[in-house]
Amino acid sequence: MPDNLPRRQVLRTAGALGLGAAAVGALQTGADAVGTPDKVAAMDAHHGHGRLVIRKDPFGTTPDGQAVDVYTFSNGRITISMLTWGATIQRVETPDRRGHTKNISLGFDNLPDYAALSPYFGATVGRYGNRIAKGQFSIDGNHYQIPVNNGENALHGGTIGFDKKVWKAKVVETSSAVGVAFTYVSPDGEMGFPGELTSRVTYTLDRHDNLRIDYHVTVAGKPTVQNLTNHVYFNLAGEGSGTIEGHVLQLNAAKYTPVDAGLIPTGELAPVAGTPFDFTRPTPIGARIRDDHPQLVIGRGYDHNFVLGKPDSHGMRFAARFWEPEHGRTVTVHTTQPGAQFYSGNFLDGTIQGIGHKSYRQGDAFAFETQHFPDSPNQPNFPSTVLRPGETFTSTTIYTFGTK
Ligand code: GLA
Repeated sequence: MPDNLPRRQVLRTAGALGLGAAAVGALQTGADAVGTPDKVAAMDAHHGHGRLVIRKDPFGTTPDGQAVDVYTFSNGRITISMLTWGATIQRVETPDRRGHTKNISLGFDNLPDYAALSPYFGATVGRYGNRIAKGQFSIDGNHYQIPVNNGENALHGGTIGFDKKVWKAKVVETSSAVGVAFTYVSPDGEMGFPGELTSRVTYTLDRHDNLRIDYHVTVAGKPTVQNLTNHVYFNLAGEGSGTIEGHVLQLNAAKYTPVDAGLIPTGELAPVAGTPFDFTRPTPIGARIRDDHPQLVIGRGYDHNFVLGKPDSHGMRFAARFWEPEHGRTVTVHTTQPGAQFYSGNFLDGTIQGIGHKSYRQGDAFAFETQHFPDSPNQPNFPSTVLRPGETFTSTTIYTFGTK
């Protein structure tokens, strides 16, 4: 589907017409609904209290002939597009404080660019998000080797991670939320990892502008390690609009995990106090990014795992809040995960043009990947990422979109 207006118009129309679940289901077939402008206006007047709607369209075909679809779901205020390729968030359209809606997520408008160029834009990454030193680890005395793809280390699951797989998709509709459950079964031995891993990652948007991600992971046959996350990149002024150094960040972490030259944690949990890593009070991302701190030199900016504060009684913790002062958009992150990689887009270098046909340069977006800590399989003092047959791993991360 072309990257312009008809899709949103159809979505809004579906809501304005008050279509029930069955009719919205019909939209999932890709059949376009046509509405009158006054109905669309009526929907606009609801200011986000419109119906939850979803539709499916073809997005492309992989070289080996697999069809890739794009699902677009909306609550009338926030509209999210997701691809079955990599269970990828392609677009996130949110209003600013004046009600002007823009796409704030980095991505592409075509499948070949995702396959050839994407530094994990919006992707669900796995089997192991972030790095495993030298791609090696042992479980119960058995040694495993993941193909390395980041210097001498394995990053985001090896050379062909879950971000490059076509996931099965199933529409999820409840009275309060709409979205897609993506499933991928990774065979025993894929990318060197032991055990057949079944991952179900459910993305839902509710009426309160929460994008909720629920991970449900099991393994069969052999114990394994797993660390799935999502790698959405945001620029809250709009993708392709320039640097995020002026975004203000509050990050609920008193400690972070310093890294060696290959971005592998040293094992230390270092206090952020008195360093450029202290975002416990809201601070512009760019305020200290050029400070003479060895960790900022290694990372070319922020590319570090933060040890998040304690969870509440439901297991959720406030992780971070990003705020772009000029247009006023905010994104607030809560998670059950113990850590998050805060990445200030350091490796974007102007060579990639995204969905809005603008080049992405260093610092033009940030990622905040909720996760277990990098290289946990080799770090006995970090929370374990081992998953055994019969066990189920679950985690939840919620991105809440707002304005201030
Ligand atoms: C993660 C890593 C970064 C970088 C990005 C993708 O955030 O920590 O070093 O590799 O993924 O470009």
